[in-house]
Amino acid sequence: MTHLFDVYPLYDIEPVKARGSYLWDQNGTKYTDLYGGHAVISVGHCHPYYVEMLTKQMNAISFYSNSVRISLQEELAEKLGELSGYPDYRLFLCNSGAEANENALKLASFHNGRTKVIAFNKAFHGRTAGAVAVTDNPAIVAPVNYNQHVTFLPYNDIEAAETGITDEVCAVIVEGIQGVGGIHVATDEFLQTLRRRCDETGAVLILDSVQCGFGRTGKFFSHQFSGIDPDLMTMAKGMGNGFPIGGVLISPKFKASYGMLGTTFGGNHLACAAGVAVLDIMKSENLIENAARMGEYFMEGIRRVGGYKELRGRGLMIGIEYDFPVKDLRNKLLFEHKLFTGVAGANTIRLLPSLAIGTEEADAFLKALEVEISQVPN
Ligand SMILES: Cc1ncc(COP(=O)(O)O)c(C=O)c1O
Repeated sequence: MTHLFDVYPLYDIEPVKARGSYLWDQNGTKYTDLYGGHAVISVGHCHPYYVEMLTKQMNAISFYSNSVRISLQEELAEKLGELSGYPDYRLFLCNSGAEANENALKLASFHNGRTKVIAFNKAFHGRTAGAVAVTDNPAIVAPVNYNQHVTFLPYNDIEAAETGITDEVCAVIVEGIQGVGGIHVATDEFLQTLRRRCDETGAVLILDSVQCGFGRTGKFFSHQFSGIDPDLMTMAKGMGNGFPIGGVLISPKFKASYGMLGTTFGGNHLACAAGVAVLDIMKSENLIENAARMGEYFMEGIRRVGGYKELRGRGLMIGIEYDFPVKDLRNKLLFEHKLFTGVAGANTIRLLPSLAIGTEEADAFLKALEVEISQVPN
C-alpha cells in the first residue's frame, strides 16, 4: 500500500466542514479559525458567492490552455488593478507564491540582463529552485538550489541596503512584512531606501506580497503604507481563498514578448473565477477596512492580556512573541479552547485570520489567551 511522503507534522484533527471563520471536525466539534490555513482564507470559508461562482464556472468550462482567449483573466486583472491601486500594471497568472517569485526573478533578469539578487535575513519566498535560493533557511535549500547569485542583507538595515545594492544587482526581493520569519514589519524608511537604491542602480524591486498582500494589513499591499511603488509584486495565498492561484503585477516599464513566460495551469477558468469572486467579495463587504479595524481590535485586546515580549504586525497579520516556546500554548488554544492559530519560529504565535473575521471570534481568542497566559509561571 502506498503511503504519503511524510513531510508534515500533523494534528490529529480532520476538518470536514467550514463556514466563515469556523471549522468542524468529523465528530462535530467546532473550531474558530484564526490562521486561515497559512493566510489563505481571505473572504471566509465557503462564502456563498464564492461557492456559487466556482460551481457555475465548473458547470460551464473548467479548463482550457492559454492558447485561447479566457476573458475571466482580463476581468481578474481589471478588478485587481482597480482594488489594489495599480491599474496601469499588467498581470501574469500562475499557481502559487513560489511560482510567482520564480517568474518575478526571471522577469527582472530578462529586463536588465543581470544575475545578482539581494534578499534579506529571515526571508521566506517559497520552495522552488529560484524562490528557495532567496529564502534564508539552509534547512530547506538543497545543494542543487544553492547559487552564487544571492546575497542576504539584514532586514530593516538602511546602511546595509545603501552599500549592498550596487549597479551589479539584478533584483532586490523583499517581504513588506516578513511572515514565516516572525511577522517583522519593514519600516517606511527601509522600503523607501530600497526603492531609491534600485532606481539609482537599475535593479528591479520585487515586493513579495504573497503573505502580506491581498488586503490583509488594512491596505491592499503592506508596502503601500510607505508610499513606494515596486516594479513587481508577487501574490498568491488569499488571492483564491483556497483555490490555488498566484500572480505577478508588472510595472509598465517591462516589455512582454511571446514565450517569455508561460504555464499550463496558470490563469485557468476555475482559478480566475475564484480570484474574481474574492475581489468582488472584498469590495462589496469592505474587507480591507474590516482587516484594519479588526487588526486594531486584536492588538488592543492582546495588549490588555499582556505577558508577551513583543507584539508585531499590521491589520490581520499579527505576531505575538513570548519569552518561552509557544508549542504548549498553541496546543492548549487548539485542544482546550478549539482555536486554530499558527506559529513563527519557536516563540511566536502567528495570527492570520480571514479578513471577514468579527469581534465574536476575536473575543473567543482573547478570552482563551487570557486564561492560558494567566497560568504561565512567572
Ligand atoms: C512571503 C511568502 N512568499 C512565498 C511563499 C510561497 O508560497 P507557496 O507556498 O504558495 O509557494 C510564502 C508561503 O508561505 C510566503 O509566505
